[in-house]
Amino acid sequence: MTALPPSRVEHPVPLVDLSRLDEDILAAAESRFSRLARSGAFTFGEELEAFETEFADYCGSGDCVGVSDGTNALRIALEALGVGANDEVITVPSTFIATVEAIASVGARPVLVDVDPETRCMDPGRLAEAIGPRTAAVVPVHLYGRPAPMDEILEVCGDIPAVEDAAQAHGAAIGESRAGSFGVAGCFSFYPTKNLGAMGDGGAVVCDDPALAATMRSLRHHGADLSAANRHVRPGSTARLDNLQAAILRLKLRRLDSWNDDRRAAAERYRSLLRGLPVVLPRRDPLEGREVFHLFVIEVDERDRVLAELRQRGVGAAVHYPTPVHLQPGWRWLDYHGGDFPAAEALARRTLSLPIFPGITPEETERVADAIASAVTVRG
Ligand SMILES: Cc1ncc(COP(=O)(O)O)c(C=O)c1O
Repeated sequence: MTALPPSRVEHPVPLVDLSRLDEDILAAAESRFSRLARSGAFTFGEELEAFETEFADYCGSGDCVGVSDGTNALRIALEALGVGANDEVITVPSTFIATVEAIASVGARPVLVDVDPETRCMDPGRLAEAIGPRTAAVVPVHLYGRPAPMDEILEVCGDIPAVEDAAQAHGAAIGESRAGSFGVAGCFSFYPTKNLGAMGDGGAVVCDDPALAATMRSLRHHGADLSAANRHVRPGSTARLDNLQAAILRLKLRRLDSWNDDRRAAAERYRSLLRGLPVVLPRRDPLEGREVFHLFVIEVDERDRVLAELRQRGVGAAVHYPTPVHLQPGWRWLDYHGGDFPAAEALARRTLSLPIFPGITPEETERVADAIASAVTVRG
């Protein structure tokens, strides 16, 4: 591979550019930060309460509990549902490792089912085969911002609680219902690069059950009795969402829909720019327009070579995720093997995430598409 002339990489296209926040958001954030810094209200407080109300409304849920991050959102939701030792929780091998970490952290065993290669989300047919007497919960993942097929999944679940991993799907919807509002609990991460990102770590669980929400509020704060000081009614931990982060999230929540529109517009541009090339585009959702493209993920042959060429041309492509959960060294104890989940393993070999973020310009998507065209075109 020959090095490209410097002019070609002068304006690299990053995978995500967090610096393109609207100036008015930054100005408002600074003024909230300085007000809160002077007030000393860092944990709990008005901003947290207001954000919880606003985010619950946004998701179409009755309640929201702000927590420290997405992993703790999943952990606390499972714990509040009483999931623990000797239980099994079913999820997918194509996800960020945090999904299984949260399951294992409550003492339960993650049981994996393969994904549907079309949706890249949980295959409801495989879920039906995996449910057993110890299944205490099911965790579908709305991967890359595309909602998992929740109607089918919930039908298969019956009475078994579904806890959605919506860390990549703020604002995604099926029909009129938003991600997070389908299962008994919906778990979100506000890691900075997420569609709704904090300026640091953050997370939340939305639900419709006041008793479940109260248990989660207690669990995020040392198992406290919420109505009596210094009384601890269960073993909990420190897992709160800061008041400062809540203030930032409130500002950004107002922009979320338009930012998601931006992502969808960029995805449409990629679809037309990449048409005719030997790449597999994300399959269109039958409920088109409701996915939120946390990532725009294509599939290509010789993925690692294509990735290297893109990077050489200044395109910040990446892979989510090169190793499925069951083949990660720390998760061999689950006793799965190569070949157990063919769809997840094929995706791990072939997927390539292209730059996408609110504010990505048509010129940038064109530059990415040109680089792909040149990388996937066989030279004679
Ligand atoms: C699918 C998925 N689940 C869970 C998490 C965990 O979130 P956090 O990093 O905030 O703990 C993430 C994000 O990192 C994620 O992408």
